[in-house]
Parts: sequence; C-alpha cells; structure tokens
Amino acid sequence: MKHFLDLADWSSTDLRHMIRLAQQIRLEWESGGNRPVLGGKTLGMIFQKPSLRTRVSFDVGMKHLGGYAIYMGPDEIGLGKRESIADVSRVLSGMVQGIMARVFDHAHVTELAKWADVPVINGLSDDSHPCQAMADILTIIDHFGHSDGLHLTYIGDGNNVARSLLLICAHFGVHYTIASPKGYELPQITVDTAKGINPNIEINLLHDTNEAAEGADILYTDTWVSMGQEAEATQRVDAFSDYQINQQLLQRAARHAIVMHDLPAYRGKEITDEVADGPQSVLFKQAANRLHAQKAILVTLMS
Ligand code: CP
Ligand code: NVA
Repeated sequence: MKHFLDLADWSSTDLRHMIRLAQQIRLEWESGGNRPVLGGKTLGMIFQKPSLRTRVSFDVGMKHLGGYAIYMGPDEIGLGKRESIADVSRVLSGMVQGIMARVFDHAHVTELAKWADVPVINGLSDDSHPCQAMADILTIIDHFGHSDGLHLTYIGDGNNVARSLLLICAHFGVHYTIASPKGYELPQITVDTAKGINPNIEINLLHDTNEAAEGADILYTDTWVSMGQEAEATQRVDAFSDYQINQQLLQRAARHAIVMHDLPAYRGKEITDEVADGPQSVLFKQAANRLHAQKAILVTLMS
C-alpha cells in the first residue's frame, strides 16, 4: 500500500504514468463518463483548514468513479485534540478505503499514514501541496504538449506550493526559478531534494522579479499569506509588495508565456486582475485539472 504524502516519495516514472492516467480518465469522462472503478469505496476527507478546489475535486472525483466521499471539517473530529491522530487513523481504517487530509503540521499527515491500513493523501500541509502540483504539471503539458526543457518562474513565497512545484518540475524536467523577498526563500533542503530527483534541471533562487521572469515559459504565483499565517499578514504584505505578477512583469517573460496560480487569488496583491483575467492566464483550466489529477491519484492508490 502506498500513500501520497510528498512528491519525493514517488519516482518520476510513476508520476509520469499517473499524469498519463489523468489524461485518459479525463478523456473517458468527456466521452460519456468514468467506469466505476472505485465502486462501493469511500474516501474520508479531514480538513483542518478551509478549501474549495481540494474538497470539491476529491468529492466529485470519487462520485464520478463510483465511490463516495465524507467531509470532516475542523470542528468535527478534533484531530489530535478530541482524539489522538493514531486513534482517528485506526478508526477510519476500519470504515473507509482511503483518507485525504488537509493539515497545518505536516507531521500530522505522516502520523495518520503511520497508523492507517488504507492509503493516505496529503491534501495540503504547511510544508507541501503535492495534489496541486499534479494538476499544475497536467496543465503545463496540456498547453505545451510536453514539459521537459521548459522554464518556470515562481514569484513570491517559498511556501508549500512553491516547494511541491519545484519537486514536480524536477520529476518532469522543467527548469525552475524563484524570486522571493529576503527571509521568505525556498528552503535549501527542497533544492537538494529536487537535485536528487533530477540533477539536470537548473534551479535559480533569486530576489529580483524582473531577472527571474526574463524569458520564462510559465509565470506562477501564490498568496503572500498562507492559511495559518494570518497573524503575520501586515508584515508579509509589506515584504511582498514588489512580488506581483502584473502586465509589466509579464512582458519580461516569453511572448508565448502562460500565467498560473493555484488559487484562491488575492487580486491586486500577488496578481493583478488584468493578468489573472488576461489572454495568457490558464488559472481556471488549472483549477479544473484538479479534478482529473485527483482522480488519477485516487485510482492509483485505491483501485
Ligand atoms: N488550490 C487549492 O488547494 O485550493 P483550495 O484551498 O480551495 O482547496
Ligand atoms: N499557500 C496557500 C495555498 C492555498 C491552496 C496556503 O497554504 O494557504
């Protein structure tokens, strides 16, 4: 049994296979519906934080594949408070065939996996967002027809999304540049992990957004203030004020460049309306691909 906790746990071959599966499942869905390969199976979904895309994509994905999903919100099971993570995991293992969890502390999702007899999926932790990265690479391949050799530039916080994005870039041969303010850089350990996955991609950690965006095929950004960082909001908005994807920055990128954002977007902060709704934006194709990418993860782990 395999969990989907971190992209470093998976081989590039397996992840590339999973993306081809996502494309097949999407085609099957568009051609009249998915076969019920998860018929009679249930996914338990634990959320310690809010969600739109992750919740809906896993819930709808399970239903399309013949199964069910159960939502357990922050106030319902009290993960690690009302009941220990070990006990929650063992109870759920007797009732559902897969667990998806969105947590603050990454150790909570690994603890769930440690005790589970069923696959556990990381639906975002403070450290990583591997499900998002799968939808991101699917969107990149949809647009360019391939991934190897492309240049992606991420503008902003070296956060959970930026980290998983670097690992997926390593697996899929995409060169990765990030521009972050001082104090908010990508951790060196993630860079080392990415180099271990694929020593052939270029990884650049910069502070200057104009330099980072130069000639990029893909510009990507995420919120300046992640869930759980609300107390730091004022300080962060100040530190990140120059780290915005706007029309002027987009002009530095390749003329054919696309703009990506995992969403929710804080318009006027990390991205302008003009760019988010402009012709180079693939934001809503990227969001829709969460459904197809998540189905491939579910089928790989649970069928
Ligand atoms: N991108 C993403 O994970 O969105 P939600 O927080 O709405 O699930
Ligand atoms: N970095 C953001 C991603 C939201 C999907 C957060 O953790 O809140």
